Amino acid sequence: MTAPSRPGFSSYGSSAQGPAYPRTRLRRNRYDAWQRDMVAEHQLTVSDMIWPVFILDGENQVEAIDAMPGINRYSVDRLVDAVAEARDLGIPAVALFPVTPPDLRSEDGREAYNPDSLACRATRALKEQLPDIGVICDVALDPFTTHGHDGVMDENARILNDETIEILCKQAVAQAQAGVDIIAPSDMMDGRIGAIRDALDAAALSHVRIMSYAAKYASCFYGPFRAALQSDGYLKGDKKTYQMDPANSDEAIRETALDIAEGADMVMVKPGLPYLDVIRRVKDEFAMPTFAYQVSGEYAMLKAASQNGWLDNDRAVLESLLCFKRAGADGVLTYAAVEAAKMLKAG
Ligand code: PBG
Repeated sequence: MTAPSRPGFSSYGSSAQGPAYPRTRLRRNRYDAWQRDMVAEHQLTVSDMIWPVFILDGENQVEAIDAMPGINRYSVDRLVDAVAEARDLGIPAVALFPVTPPDLRSEDGREAYNPDSLACRATRALKEQLPDIGVICDVALDPFTTHGHDGVMDENARILNDETIEILCKQAVAQAQAGVDIIAPSDMMDGRIGAIRDALDAAALSHVRIMSYAAKYASCFYGPFRAALQSDGYLKGDKKTYQMDPANSDEAIRETALDIAEGADMVMVKPGLPYLDVIRRVKDEFAMPTFAYQVSGEYAMLKAASQNGWLDNDRAVLESLLCFKRAGADGVLTYAAVEAAKMLKAG
């Protein structure tokens, strides 16, 4: 049925979406603010946001990070205060990233599984003082190695897959014993999810969850993060033999399928905004709890533009986070979690 034409209006017929213009006017549903709210398909809430935090040794330390305006490195005592604020705002979990002093770095990254590592001490402090917020910890060797890679190397500087996995399993168990709720393997090596699941289960840690960095790309957008961890000076070469090629998305599906088959409870795509298509594909394909990581470089871009007066900071932050929800993410790791939570609270 074709809508009757009126003078000055043309008619393009009807479709499954309803009659054609002028009977259908999509602008009607945008007429009032309440109307727009009523038909909004997606919403960002505080429980969608995980806050990544940088920790350092010492006491009463709060250090600003140049390339990430508004973000600090905290000593454990000050971390507890910062995380208490996040919890009071309703943020469900934090992800811990330790700065490793140079003398604790080694070829094989053995500090990774020290039960008294900074990450484990921070976890114990958080679990004792703030038991009702989740603690997530990366499992990867790059903060602990002298070469800055996520795995151990042979004499030809090849990253060794299976030898690395053994160390990752020890790291995961040490962290989980310290109280980490969610282990987040982030190195993109093969076979590590299954091995870590087995190691956790063998240590009576079957309640500990695994959020796998299932599709993590070899991205330039991690630059400010490496500076934040003071690990940028260490990395020799790049991570392209283990992290994914930004050209690929079929491969992201294979990577994610393997991690799910090995026992991942949740999967993640990283970086975020340049990879929304990958989030959508992963969510549609697997219907798993799917997370996105809005990484340090994305945060730095937003802040640089807002500080120059080129973007409205609050609107840019909230819009970028909402877009992850639209793309299919159930949640987002974002450095802007605390400021976004305050914005949401203020309404
Ligand atoms: C460690 C790790 C990285 C990030 C999270 N975990 C860096 C890397 O893989 O080189 C990046 C996070 C960010 O840029 O915000 N494997």
